[in-house]
Amino acid sequence: MPNVTLENVTDVVIASLGESGAIDDRQREIMTSLIRHLHGFCKDVKLQHGEFLAACDYLARAGQTCSDKRQEFILLGDILGVEVLVDMLTNVVEGPESVSTVLGPFYRDNPPVLPHGASTVQKHFDDEETVYFEGVVRDTAGNPLAGVTLDVWEDAPNGLYENHDPDQPEYNLRGRFETDAEGRYAFRALRPVPYPIPDNETAGELLRFMGHHPNRPGHMHFILSKDGFRPLISQVYDSSSAWLDNDSVFAVKDSLVAEFQKAPDEMHDDLYVKFDFVLKEKAAAASMAAE
Ligand code: BEZ
Ligand code: FE
Repeated sequence: MPNVTLENVTDVVIASLGESGAIDDRQREIMTSLIRHLHGFCKDVKLQHGEFLAACDYLARAGQTCSDKRQEFILLGDILGVEVLVDMLTNVVEGPESVSTVLGPFYRDNPPVLPHGASTVQKHFDDEETVYFEGVVRDTAGNPLAGVTLDVWEDAPNGLYENHDPDQPEYNLRGRFETDAEGRYAFRALRPVPYPIPDNETAGELLRFMGHHPNRPGHMHFILSKDGFRPLISQVYDSSSAWLDNDSVFAVKDSLVAEFQKAPDEMHDDLYVKFDFVLKEKAAAASMAAE
């Protein structure tokens, strides 16, 4: 073992990685880069020992904050822009396919399966605005796709998701829909409102350390899936919402912003949104990832 100095410590640690066979190429690539960047960061800011101990204590407390209702490390990744970055690296967009964005911590699997045009609303609010959402799902060649599953979920007019609000019924404002033979989906819901991401515990500490706010613009979440196609996790943003230009988790993309228009009288809803999606074929997605 060479004498460890400020100059050689990074190379010494990288040289300690296991022989090929003991670790695979991806493990070596990840660990080499992680060590280089972590050491680079410490040298950059001349990290002091007290700060290192404070960071260890912070991470320990972040772990203790995790439960079946809260994944603190995803939240920390969101606040640092890491989830949106990793999503863009994973779901590269090169053609007409719809853009994905972060999943966030509020998704619940197995929402109520609802028929075309049904409402996800189980509880009404005085200040609610109802919205009719519809659109067509196509493949990248423009053909309508039948049998696409769409999971949708959103916050209530009080800014809370159902699973974080004891006063909302289970699965309120969540639903699972399917496209018809012409690739059309439709459902009724409420206008999503801006809300703060959880800003207590260690997520709040990080936001305050960064001097950043916790707010997100109003959005409807979507997961689209169909065999043979890359699943699409995305969100549709209200073009008139506050925080559209300053999202606390950096997840807004121009092509995901839609106008919540006043609905025509015959619709019986306050607002109307038309939003089409394009799914990428899995074979095309896999061959691009391999390049
Ligand atoms: C959300 O959109 O639900 C969300 C995304 C990232 C962090 C917190 C919430
Ligand atoms: Fe959300």
